[in-house]
Amino acid sequence: MEQLKINNIRKSFGGIVALDGVDFSVKRKSITGLVGPNGSGKTTLFNSITGFIPVDEGSIKFNDIDITNLSPDKIANHGIIRSFQIPKPFSKMTVLENVLLSARDQLGENILPLLFRKKEVIKQETENHERAKEILELLDLSHLTNEYSAGLSGGQKKLLELARILMADPDIILLDEPIAGVNPTLANKIFEKIIDMRDKYDKTFLIVEHNIDIVRDYCEYIGVMNRGKIIADGDPSKVFEDEKVLNIYLGLED
Ligand SMILES: Nc1ncnc2c1ncn2[C@@H]1O[C@H](COP(=O)(O)OP(=O)(O)OP(=O)(O)O)[C@@H](O)[C@H]1O
Ligand SMILES: [Mg+2]
Repeated sequence: MEQLKINNIRKSFGGIVALDGVDFSVKRKSITGLVGPNGSGKTTLFNSITGFIPVDEGSIKFNDIDITNLSPDKIANHGIIRSFQIPKPFSKMTVLENVLLSARDQLGENILPLLFRKKEVIKQETENHERAKEILELLDLSHLTNEYSAGLSGGQKKLLELARILMADPDIILLDEPIAGVNPTLANKIFEKIIDMRDKYDKTFLIVEHNIDIVRDYCEYIGVMNRGKIIADGDPSKVFEDEKVLNIYLGLED
């Protein structure tokens, strides 16, 4: 059930304790939210999980494999991807080409398979093409398949980013504030698409989000961070009734 297990992670930057013994788990196929005030350690936790910063102490297990302090590449190969690991879309490429670019295991990129395993390469290309089209359909981008990415609206670019992450086919997708600066209609649409991605492709999501209403509406499970610790976790409706959590959000904490 538990796909990602974070056990007593500590990380300091000089004298600043950014993570002060974080314990947290993410269930397979859940939409899990991570909330908390500015500077509470959410992005640092993402950086630790994905290998961008080494942790000082503790362990991170994914599918029961210890991935603590592996390189970002290795961690991505274990099936953990965060949004910024997918490079920015190439504006002079079409939407479809951009999605195809993040497919994993592209045999055609190597000259040897091209020469000796032509059939396999063609088969894989056809499959990738089918999958890319299916993903574009899911994210309401089909009508833009052959448009240049440069011409997309801000909202369409956000959806394209999700399409490209999905094409890379990770098991868990980490999103750090995916709807920052987005209007409410689009914010809801993005979260609806996240649910669709989970349902159709069996993905797990861990999402840092400041908008509490959105978290309540779309996340099944949440963790609240404060000062480098998870201070409450569980069902959103219960967690937001927790006194410690209310104190932080109402600014009552000293
Ligand atoms: N590379 C770094 N060097 C020094 N201090 C850092 C570094 N990264 C984070 N910190 C500090 O660690 C603490 C946690 O920061 P972090 O960015 O993880 O918070 P956050 O919860 O993501 O905040 P926000 O909601 O504002 O994005 C802060 O005090 C921050 O200043
Ligand atoms: Mg942050």
